[in-house]
Amino acid sequence: MSAPLTLWRGARLATMCPGAPWGLVEDGALLIEGSTLRWVGAEHALPAALARQAEQDIDLGGALVTPGLIDCHTHLVYGGHRATEFELRLQGASYDDLARAGGGIRSTVTATRVATDAQLYKLAAQRARTLMAEGVTTIEVKSGYGLSAEHEARCLRVARRLGRELPLTVRCTSLGAHALPHEFTGRPDDYIDAVCGWLAEQHAEGLVDAVDAFCEHIGFTPQQVRRLFETARRLGLPVKLHAEQLSNLHGAALAAEFGALSADHLEYTDDAGVAAMARAGTVAVLLPGAYYFLRETRLPPITGLRTQGVPMAIASDHNPGSSPGLSLLLMLNMACTLFRMTPEEALAGVTVHAAQALGLGATHGRLQAGRQADFVVWDLAAPNELAYWFGRNPCRRVVQAGIEVGGPD
Ligand code: NIG
Ligand code: FE
Repeated sequence: MSAPLTLWRGARLATMCPGAPWGLVEDGALLIEGSTLRWVGAEHALPAALARQAEQDIDLGGALVTPGLIDCHTHLVYGGHRATEFELRLQGASYDDLARAGGGIRSTVTATRVATDAQLYKLAAQRARTLMAEGVTTIEVKSGYGLSAEHEARCLRVARRLGRELPLTVRCTSLGAHALPHEFTGRPDDYIDAVCGWLAEQHAEGLVDAVDAFCEHIGFTPQQVRRLFETARRLGLPVKLHAEQLSNLHGAALAAEFGALSADHLEYTDDAGVAAMARAGTVAVLLPGAYYFLRETRLPPITGLRTQGVPMAIASDHNPGSSPGLSLLLMLNMACTLFRMTPEEALAGVTVHAAQALGLGATHGRLQAGRQADFVVWDLAAPNELAYWFGRNPCRRVVQAGIEVGGPD
């Protein structure tokens, strides 16, 4: 027996499908069957036979509807915070100096290891709900604050639990190669060997959708990342990379060589890196929250990415060190003001391109028949308003996998 159909009509649809700016459809209708969009288009074109099958008919009175938002780069699972480091940075300490002195990521590792599973879940779920209140229906969650077999697996299990218990699609990324834990001081290659071993176990437990690393002078070398990526390839897992956040180690090109889903940050990526990403179809995930919070001044190569046709995604990068923000809408505004992206590029960055960065390009990110029924009804008239307002939540209603999950708290 097929699932009951629900008709949502009277909508201004920003479908994000090709053909028109924003994929805009006026007087639009969405027909939902179970968790899937059965039909999407202008209401006058909806076949009468289909309309008659709808058990529920909801008129949106002309409101803007977009695909559910996708935050494709977060570090939601961690204990503690780094407000004191923030103060030290305001007094002149650099992010790199704090990391080299044993603070930074490693201080969050200490706080994460002492937190119980229940505490980690509660904190991560609160953070996820804050994102969801602004229309986020899919997130990526990285590990990377456990940095041992036991604690990395614990963080990934918390991430998986978010996907089971919240009305949210969650993709889990293993980021054991985030920083060198103190047990391995002076032995980064041994640590990478250990991370490769854990990966097989995490994968066998069904905890991993992708593998990530921090390729940086305060992270891991391209050679070490290459060894990790070779292990990921043997396990059949896709890769992504924190690349060129603070310096140019040619990580974007390395990621592209492995057909990475995405390369993320990219402030120091050069033309060759951009060209390699374009050839490989690797998404550029841009993180204006980290750029802002670290007071970075070097811009990612937006013009090159645009002209070479590299899909650009935008994400919160939520983490306690470089981007403690939990508003994806604010990231849209920052992508425009700081990175000079257009409002349409910014919305594509949290829908269609973010889906691609998570390997969900065929099922999420657009309002299109056959895709998952994830959408947001906004208290707005035009899609460019999404990137315009900040500090205000215009999210009115949210549907995830065909079920209305509510709007803001
Ligand atoms: O994406 N660059 C590495 N990872 C995070 C920051 C992690 C932290 O400072 O705790 C990022 O910016
Ligand atoms: Fe990150």
